[in-house]
Amino acid sequence: MTSKPQAKYLHDYQPPTHAVENLSLTFELDPQNTQVTARFTLTAQSGATSVMLDGIELTLNSVKVNGQNHSDYTLHDTGLELHGLSPRAEIEIVNTISPGTNTSLEGLYLSDGAYCTQCEAEGFRKITYFLDRPDVLTTYQVKIIGPKEMPYLLSNGNKVDSGELADGRHYVCWEDPFKKPSYLFALVAGDFDVLSDKFETRSGRQVDLQLFVDKGNLSKAPHAMTSLKKAMAWDEARFDLEYDLDIYMIVAVDFFNMGAMENKGLNVFNSACVLANQETATDRDFHVIESIVGHEYFHNWTGNRVTCRDWFQLSLKEGLTVFRDQEFSSDLGSRALNRIDAVNTVRTHQFAEDAGPMAHPIRPQQVIEMNNFYTVTVYNKGAEVIRMMHTILGEAGFQKGMKQYFERHDGQAVTCDDFVAAMSDANGKDLSQFKLWYNQVGTPKISARTSYDAQQGEFTLHLAQSHADNDPVEAPLHIPVAIELLDQQGQVIAIPESTAKQGKVIELTEKQQSFVFAGLKDEPVVVLLEDFSAPCTLNYDHKQHQLLHIAKFASSDYARWEAIQQLYKAEIKSLVNTQAFAEYRLPESLTHALSVLLDDLSGDLSILAEQFTVPGFDALSADHNPVPVEPLHQAISTIEYQIAQKLKPVWCATYEQLNDDGSLSSAAVATRTMKNKCLFYLALVSDSQIQGWIQEQSESHNMTLKLGAIRAAVNADHVLTQLLLDDFDKQWQSDLLVMDKWFALQASRRDDNCLDNILSLYSHPCFDKANPNRVRALIGAFTRSNPLHFHRNDGQGYALLGDLIAELNQVNPQNASRIITPLLSFKRFDETRQGLMKAQLEKLARLPELSDDLYEKIDKALN
Ligand code: TRP
Ligand code: ZN
Repeated sequence: MTSKPQAKYLHDYQPPTHAVENLSLTFELDPQNTQVTARFTLTAQSGATSVMLDGIELTLNSVKVNGQNHSDYTLHDTGLELHGLSPRAEIEIVNTISPGTNTSLEGLYLSDGAYCTQCEAEGFRKITYFLDRPDVLTTYQVKIIGPKEMPYLLSNGNKVDSGELADGRHYVCWEDPFKKPSYLFALVAGDFDVLSDKFETRSGRQVDLQLFVDKGNLSKAPHAMTSLKKAMAWDEARFDLEYDLDIYMIVAVDFFNMGAMENKGLNVFNSACVLANQETATDRDFHVIESIVGHEYFHNWTGNRVTCRDWFQLSLKEGLTVFRDQEFSSDLGSRALNRIDAVNTVRTHQFAEDAGPMAHPIRPQQVIEMNNFYTVTVYNKGAEVIRMMHTILGEAGFQKGMKQYFERHDGQAVTCDDFVAAMSDANGKDLSQFKLWYNQVGTPKISARTSYDAQQGEFTLHLAQSHADNDPVEAPLHIPVAIELLDQQGQVIAIPESTAKQGKVIELTEKQQSFVFAGLKDEPVVVLLEDFSAPCTLNYDHKQHQLLHIAKFASSDYARWEAIQQLYKAEIKSLVNTQAFAEYRLPESLTHALSVLLDDLSGDLSILAEQFTVPGFDALSADHNPVPVEPLHQAISTIEYQIAQKLKPVWCATYEQLNDDGSLSSAAVATRTMKNKCLFYLALVSDSQIQGWIQEQSESHNMTLKLGAIRAAVNADHVLTQLLLDDFDKQWQSDLLVMDKWFALQASRRDDNCLDNILSLYSHPCFDKANPNRVRALIGAFTRSNPLHFHRNDGQGYALLGDLIAELNQVNPQNASRIITPLLSFKRFDETRQGLMKAQLEKLARLPELSDDLYEKIDKALN
């Protein structure tokens, strides 16, 4: 066996030995033999005469220093060490690479015949030898030479030259005036359809916008373009930030490991995050595209103009940019709905990460493979930490902090501490305790107790905070806790500003703290952690009648939704305990509350649909140890069946009443969401009329409705299921992104044939293990939405996943490492399942060429 991969530590950070100036890159594109020529000036920062340039899987052709051939170097596995350098040295390196055989989708590779690059985090070293670290910033001049069949040769910045070459090739030269780290470099070459537009910035500059898509896909590009223009306008209005180049390009590619990449002036997107029309994409897809286009655009300031000093600081740009894209979505759409969405992500996925072997702080301290740290913790908990600062400082204070941050750090590579310092200094607010959030690990817990003194009319809220067992931080955190007090009539009781900021936010800074509310007529009902004001779990013994009170009267949509979630949770929990599934009836009080909700269709129907969404298996499994796989699944299904059955006439009446106008307006989207929710429940209690509705809606030309109908059938294992899936397959084989929806539906089927079906789909003409979208559609959906089969106690679900990971280990380590997640938390299951899951991990650990990506996760899980 080769030597074990070594971790890198934040506390070992050293500034770069050299500064780089004026990087010039020339690419002569060829599938097997692309030649890369790099020229740059190195300036020693501390008298160093050697430099270690990162580089992997490269063929070195020549090295020149100050114009002379240079042989004084050492070639390592992971880089090129040049010796005997003058303090200022002109370097020229020529090397070759093979994009056509690069299946890792990192570095330079071919995606369906088009060249493209992915350099974040450390992919530039797969292109040429360089100081591939984010704190080395320089300007780039890029010359791309390629075949004429590829009319578009793109890179960052402005096009400065182009021309024909004698041998039938052509070239284009690009210059990016802004200094950037290597991870923001991009090159794309191919033939595309282009959607062009313009944006005039607030100060009157014209920016050319270009969106490159595969030939024939132009009709699916306008939504992403509209989203981009909205994002540009929003960043000016809300954050006072304007775009800085004359051109902004987005390229959509089919083979991509993540959603999208913010390369300066040339974003590369997973085509799934760009292409949409109503026939092929759901309303949810439209929403996700808008938020990702926004996210990448917002990186231009938070990530590109101010970047990270080192990769441990990833949350500096990602947490902040997720916060910004969430605010963008909230300002443009429904704030409550976006909040519910974000909270679900944190509770379902981030809390699970916290509880598993890969638990890490939002600023990790040690990393083996950086690609493993593009996590829900760094991104989504990171965004929650930014949001808490926003809650503590208020919008105006937060914007003052942002201004300070850009004034100090534009053009620099900085740390999370620098960000917090800007916030703190701009507001004169001490955030030193708050900074513990950057080090702490695991989900903090808030325990609440209340007491009421009827004579004094005093209500006391006792809060205590505690840390997870795996948390290295012991000191108490600075936690903003948003609250609301409701009187017996459901009126909101005003809280003085001296107790709670804006009458809402109290700051918990000690291990235990009590807050007194005086002058009350009778005992209030308290809403706690409103709007999920901190990424914590909350322990408070809310009685059912109190939750019903909150669900009815709380002032925010969020709090009312949350109360109903708690009610569902309590029902599921007691059902798991009693396991009396057959006898179970939804309590009258809850049924009544739900039917009252359904009586009023005049409000936001999207929120109404969320109120009828029972928490899922993954979100609930955290409350149990070990996870009671079958009972938990059965409890959720039983509650859903009860909601369907008890309210069947109301569901029918509602379904018949709802009509959308086919547009993308928020009202039409909400109507479709609610229609699908009706059908989801109705499919569980189907009769001939309902069967007709499912059939009819499945024939819709609107993908949201079509998919809603088929999903309802699949979930209910309805007699129509096979027929509907077969029709869909026939209709959509020419559109792989649409087929991903079909693969996901197939993977969520719960019939006995499930596993064989999935295995047989590997040979479906549309399936391709080398494409991360296909793998995520089929396998991601299987592990996430089919717990009963994934966690089968004969281990076949685990084996299916383990076998696929083994195959992908060499093909695409990043993707293999992403799909392994559900196997890592084996400790949360019973002994039999633990053994079976562990066996898969142990089998993978013995793979001959185990990637660093998999090694890091498996090693952490097993040891
Ligand atoms: N910086 C990208 C984003 O969040 C993330 C990303 C895209 C990425 N592609 C990647 C991270 C490949 C690691 C590897 O916007
Ligand atoms: Zn990002």
